[in-house]
Amino acid sequence: MIFLGVNIDHCATLRQARYREAPATTGGAVEPDPVTFALAAEQAGADGITVHLREDRRHIQDRDVWRLRECLGTRLNLEMACTPEMTALALKLKPEYVCLVPENRQEITTEGGLNVVGNRDRVRACVDALSTAGIQVSPFIDPDEPQIEASAKLGAPLVELHTGAYAQAYFTPRRAAEFQRLRLGAVGAHNLGLVVNAGHGINYANIAEIRQLPHLHELNIGHSIVSRALFTGVTEAVREMKRRMNP
Ligand code: PXP
Repeated sequence: MIFLGVNIDHCATLRQARYREAPATTGGAVEPDPVTFALAAEQAGADGITVHLREDRRHIQDRDVWRLRECLGTRLNLEMACTPEMTALALKLKPEYVCLVPENRQEITTEGGLNVVGNRDRVRACVDALSTAGIQVSPFIDPDEPQIEASAKLGAPLVELHTGAYAQAYFTPRRAAEFQRLRLGAVGAHNLGLVVNAGHGINYANIAEIRQLPHLHELNIGHSIVSRALFTGVTEAVREMKRRMNP
């Protein structure tokens, strides 16, 4: 059984497209509300809700994460940059999980995994502080041996393998090689005692192959579910993804 974390960032992106100034003018009660989306996703069977509180607050806002903290019945997975400011915020918020992601102001969405090898001290400081507070930390990394080994050495209990390169290669001849890279990454991480999550670019088509990766614990899926929900509603979008994950 593979668990599903629904990433609701893109629901917030849609809200911000029209209501960026809303907290000052309307108290933030505007459409589409990511918290309402999250609660509907939970009702439909999501095993957790994931949000990326970016340093530039371009989609999810602080108010959203505090409301989620109060309302969610499942688990909150906070994606965040590996900085002292975000660590301090996470220690106050106390999500069940934190996923450490790289941030680059220019990117539209997270591109490329966190370079744990090149930032050991910074990542270790985050992992230590959050683990001490009982928060489970997963670095979001490319599925390559050095990054996996470095994550294990830092004492992270989980990793999230970046499936973006595979998703991009899905309709190209590189697909088999990218899938094999993910497969080896999942096996390597599992052999080092890490719980294996994965995410980025997973959709209703590529899930048929992704779900065959060994040792998968949870998939974090956002864009495809939020997009499908425009046509079918949240309930059916989440149910259909769960059916395809665990047929
Ligand atoms: N996992 C991580 C760490 C992410 O940053 C994101 C969003 O960029 C996702 C999963 C979900 O990706 P998508 O929206 O493409 O499903």
